[in-house]
Amino acid sequence: MYENLELIKQKCLNCTKCNLCKTRTNVVFSSGIANSKLVLIGEAPGYWEDIKAEPFVGRAGQLLDKIFECVDFSRKKDIYICNTIKCRPPNNRDPLDEEKEACREFLDAQLEILKPKIILICGKVALKTFLPNEKSITRVRGKWFDGPYNSKMMPIFHPSYLLRNDSRQKGSPKWLMWQDIKEVRRMYDSL
Ligand code: URA
Repeated sequence: MYENLELIKQKCLNCTKCNLCKTRTNVVFSSGIANSKLVLIGEAPGYWEDIKAEPFVGRAGQLLDKIFECVDFSRKKDIYICNTIKCRPPNNRDPLDEEKEACREFLDAQLEILKPKIILICGKVALKTFLPNEKSITRVRGKWFDGPYNSKMMPIFHPSYLLRNDSRQKGSPKWLMWQDIKEVRRMYDSL
């Protein structure tokens, strides 16, 4: 196995295991600090992530930052962020099974080194990767599951879904996200 994150990153930067290596501008490995208790796993890099080589830097990422800031989490010092796959699928289509399989060793290796206490599963691609029997984020969001390396794992809505659902009324996706993120903060403080 890999000794440290830098070695995984180097392997990833040179990876040609699937066809996405032919269309990517950059490999998007991670952001944030390595000894964080909290890891968020998204779906795949989009247009801006591919350009900037950093996860969640487009509109969805900016909303994610605001959500974290509301409970005093800073992306720079409290959260390690990565994606299920590290290269952008053309036109932001969903990753293919073969792409997820090719990239899985990097995600697993990241988690093996990080051993986070809390893992946030953000969106349906990450949900399918970690909880393949659960088909609907809406049903499982906000619930704690046993994750890898004794972590607590919670599925949460993807910020792009929140961008498409503007209401803040009780029971709306944004309102539910607010409940979930407060629970994440409570658990983080208790660990
Ligand atoms: N959506 C994701 O799931 N990940 C990113 O890095 C950007 C958008």
